[in-house]
Amino acid sequence: MLDLSFYKDKKVLITGHTGFKGTWLTRILVNAGAVVCGYSLGAPTNPNLFSLAKVEDKIKHVIGDIRDYKHLKSVFDEFQPEIVIHLAAQPIVRESYKNPLYTYETNVMGTANICECVRLTKSVKSFLNVTTDKVYLNEDMPDHAFKETEPLDGYDPYSNSKSCSELVTHSYKKSFFKDMDVSVSTARAGNVIGGGDFAKDRIIPDCIRAVEKNQEIVVRNPYSTRPYQHVLEPLYIYLCICEKQYGNKDFEGYFNVGPDDCDCINTGDLVALFCQTWGNGVSWVSRYDGGPHEATFLKLDNWKIKDTFGWRPRWHIQECMKKIVEFTKVYFNNKEDVPFEMDREIKEFFKVK
Ligand SMILES: NC(=O)c1ccc[n+]([C@@H]2O[C@H](COP(=O)([O-])OP(=O)(O)OC[C@H]3O[C@@H](n4cnc5c(N)ncnc54)[C@H](O)[C@@H]3O)[C@@H](O)[C@H]2O)c1
Repeated sequence: MLDLSFYKDKKVLITGHTGFKGTWLTRILVNAGAVVCGYSLGAPTNPNLFSLAKVEDKIKHVIGDIRDYKHLKSVFDEFQPEIVIHLAAQPIVRESYKNPLYTYETNVMGTANICECVRLTKSVKSFLNVTTDKVYLNEDMPDHAFKETEPLDGYDPYSNSKSCSELVTHSYKKSFFKDMDVSVSTARAGNVIGGGDFAKDRIIPDCIRAVEKNQEIVVRNPYSTRPYQHVLEPLYIYLCICEKQYGNKDFEGYFNVGPDDCDCINTGDLVALFCQTWGNGVSWVSRYDGGPHEATFLKLDNWKIKDTFGWRPRWHIQECMKKIVEFTKVYFNNKEDVPFEMDREIKEFFKVK
């Protein structure tokens, strides 16, 4: 189990801190008393959680590109992090079909640059590369739950670039990190949902945009099944891995970070749950738009993190949806209250035993 007090005064470098997961993570770490440096491009959407969360003046906030090795290295040299959590990525499947080269440059060479900086920065004791459930060779076998030992070979450029990001990390681990005083893991997370995601082409943000405009929610593919989890679930695990492996290589590994089977549901059911939880007669319609290939079925075997860290999911899908609706109503009502709503959720989530 995670001990958040471990992070007090620890120097943590987060890449992708201006994104959805990165902002939540930054807020948790700042609240825990960590010294945080964020390195990333500007927030990827407008509006965005990073501005709403009001964390910028509580951290060392660096706008930079992970493809720019020289700049990245100068930030490592100056900050001397003890813990590095790598989240920065081009994370959208459809975007990767439009811009495959940019996706590979960011997700593969960006990761190589981070690994190289970790290799050359002796202060780093714990490094986590965040990838995705889409890293596996997925032949759409119904009800198949991927195990960590299965082949890595994502289909589309996003998924595949994340498989490559894993491989780069594995090679650095075998070639360099194994003889160094740094522990290294990767975490393959499922689809996260939660308040404050404004990304294009993600289902919950699509629902919220529709509600905001008083429109029916349009679902592209209601039959694709995904392992949905609240954004605080993987963040909890990332922090747990970084804490436990700090100074103890026994906890290093490649970990699936997914919910229990009951939370692997199809997009239609997820949207129906959103409508029911939101109320006010919100409704949805299925309208297939002939988009590029995306896996129909995705589920993760989560026994390894359960066994290694004693972790169990805390908020199942109904609770996640309740939190999304509560958060969004706060956001619609008064944007200034968003940081308080974040802290309220963080406190509630982390106090569960
Ligand atoms: N959201 C999900 O459902 C999900 C699921 C599995 C894995 N992930 C992974 O988690 C991580 C964070 O995802 P998110 O949902 O917060 O994404 P996001 O789009 O909200 O944030 C991405 C972050 O990366 C930064 N970034 C993008 N390109 C960059 C570059 N070239 N240089 C520096 N920074 C750059 C952005 O500025 C932003 O801070 C990603 O690695 C993603 O692949 C996300």
